[in-house]
Amino acid sequence: MLKSWYKEMAVYQVWPRSFCDGDGDGIGDLKGVLSKLDYIKSIGVDAIWFSPLYKSPQKDYGYDIADYKSIQPEYGTLEEFKEVLDGAHKRGLKVIMDLVVNHTSDQHEWFKKSIEEPDSQYHDYYYWRKGKGKRRPNNWMSTFAGPAWEYNEKLDEYYLHLFAIEQPDLNMDNPKVREEVKDIMKFWLDMGVDGFREDVITFISKKEGLPSSPYWFPVATGIEKYMHGPHLDEYLMEFKRDVYDHYDCFTVGEAPMMTTKNALKHITEGENQQLNTMFHFEHMAADCLFYSWFKTSFNLKKLKKVFSRWQNELYGKAWNALYIENHDQPRIINRYGSVEYRVESAKMLATMYICQSGTPFIYQGQEIGMTNPTFESIDEFTDVSTVNNYGVAKSIMGADKALKLANYASRDNARTPVQWSAEKNAGFTTADKPWFKLNDNYKEVNVEAAEKDPDSVLNYYRKLLKFRKENEIVIYGSYKEHFKKSKELYVYEREYEGKKLLVINSFTDKEVQFVAPKGFDLTKGNLVLSNYNYPAVTSNGFKTKPYETRVYLFD
Ligand code: GLC
Repeated sequence: MLKSWYKEMAVYQVWPRSFCDGDGDGIGDLKGVLSKLDYIKSIGVDAIWFSPLYKSPQKDYGYDIADYKSIQPEYGTLEEFKEVLDGAHKRGLKVIMDLVVNHTSDQHEWFKKSIEEPDSQYHDYYYWRKGKGKRRPNNWMSTFAGPAWEYNEKLDEYYLHLFAIEQPDLNMDNPKVREEVKDIMKFWLDMGVDGFREDVITFISKKEGLPSSPYWFPVATGIEKYMHGPHLDEYLMEFKRDVYDHYDCFTVGEAPMMTTKNALKHITEGENQQLNTMFHFEHMAADCLFYSWFKTSFNLKKLKKVFSRWQNELYGKAWNALYIENHDQPRIINRYGSVEYRVESAKMLATMYICQSGTPFIYQGQEIGMTNPTFESIDEFTDVSTVNNYGVAKSIMGADKALKLANYASRDNARTPVQWSAEKNAGFTTADKPWFKLNDNYKEVNVEAAEKDPDSVLNYYRKLLKFRKENEIVIYGSYKEHFKKSKELYVYEREYEGKKLLVINSFTDKEVQFVAPKGFDLTKGNLVLSNYNYPAVTSNGFKTKPYETRVYLFD
């Protein structure tokens, strides 16, 4: 197992709009970030990933970029960004930018010119196509908004948008577009940023001829024609050769529907490695089919199987990116944990994934155990994909059930302002109202309260990340799962240079009898992490408490 700085780091994700408002307009911004750098550092992370800060009409909250080289005025200026970058570096924190190049905003100059000057080079920056008679160029669906094609009367042509109507897809087959992408990367790397989280990067190569799909796939018909397209390898290699190879930078690709087999084509270490690691989605489907809108009941065996497959198949060859929350996922406590046992389950879930092999990512608010808010009506949601998915759900199950489902599945669950204190507006803003609703529980769940409580979720994250940093076994050790058939316990061991770690996690409020796997004697182990206070074990097992987690080190 090769060692590297990016394998040893832990990353904190900031979704800027809801992180901290520094200028009192109700919207999070860079001033707010600057005031919280010490806090971020105190969690024990080594890097910050910023969801898009660039100039954008905010139709998809920054994932629709109008100018890749400037900062959204609501968030601040480029000068302020440089201050944040500098402040982060001074504290030993790396900075990772979101790189969104599968599509731009429809307000980007390139797109505007592609319409205004159809004979210019910009027309071919996008997928403009004639219709087939009265029909669209193909039957692909957008994940956000009905068909993936939008008609433009002036040109009598359609353009492709795999996401919102305002997010036209870039034509990556055009070498000029790839040059633009490399230019954007260099602009930020030259400024001093340390890498990129590459948005839906595995969608950038579409099948030649853009053929219709023979399959109907809800909200994503056509996905097999672009999700791991024909030239992906080539384009990623070009980015690496022409850009990353010339900097000491980190890259993580977002990769929906990714399998281990396909991931290994891009992230296997060695000459042909194109990205350092990838965000796959398989473990985010233990309570649903593919994504949270197709809700099922939670299935621990499904979760364990996915985690173990990624751990086993990548070990020694490639590197995992570990996460259980981000700005696209509802809060994990509501999904895989328990609101009733909020603190216990938050700590257990943290241990469960951070003790695996990989670079852990922690999403803002996750470290204090934030949960989903309650949305009383569909008008309270602001996310473009929620509104679309709700419409589809309503036509199938009626308004009441669709609202209930949206409360479970919406990305807006993760986008409420960070709860800093019990003060007005949770200390997020001094404005009368924050831009988006707050979770009602902020008086109890907030950073200030967590700082004061030695047993808080926040202080547990600190302990856990410190333990990871000080024990190479957590970073580089091998992985082996035990009791695969258990529907309540997730138990695995790690092994490294003669040491062993046993990680025991209960996913239930019921008491379960745990007996240590063969070869382990708990009475000889050192209990290094736990979410309850216990007397020392005197036998080789115990009855679990609700959502209990224990980590034993044997050296
Ligand atoms: C990614 C982003 C998500 C965005 C989408 C389109 O999945 O994480 O927030 O809406 O891409 O850019």
